[in-house]
Amino acid sequence: MPILKILTIPEPSLRQKSVAVKPTEILKLKPLFLDMIDTMYSADGVGLAAPQIGKNIRLATINKEVTPDKKDWILINPKITKHSWKRIKDEEGCLSIPGMKKEVARYAKITIKALDVKGRPLNFQAENLFARVIQHEIDHLDGILIVDK
Ligand code: NI
Repeated sequence: MPILKILTIPEPSLRQKSVAVKPTEILKLKPLFLDMIDTMYSADGVGLAAPQIGKNIRLATINKEVTPDKKDWILINPKITKHSWKRIKDEEGCLSIPGMKKEVARYAKITIKALDVKGRPLNFQAENLFARVIQHEIDHLDGILIVDK
């Protein structure tokens, strides 16, 4: 599988709001999911969002090290539907901002609605690092980077 180039700031596509994936497009995107997963691991990232590889669509991959079932997760059109009041601060990095670490406050617990690789609806809760990574990736889909937080 080809490893994709990860874009870094000040690339404009990192700053755009990405568009929702149409359910009819999901099957066609399978090669892209697979390339994104390989790219994420080759860069040693815990997550990767499509704008980071130049596609402004609402799609992100999550490294199995942080998922509850220890499998890679692919989130299509992810949306936070509920969140805790409590936020936790912790240091984050971003593959699109090499060398930078920043303390970012994130919701401790979130509920997410998304579609999976087969277009099936997902509705789940996340906490700890899994929740942090999802919030970081959703920010990417809205053109928001840790430097803005
Ligand atoms: Ni990032």
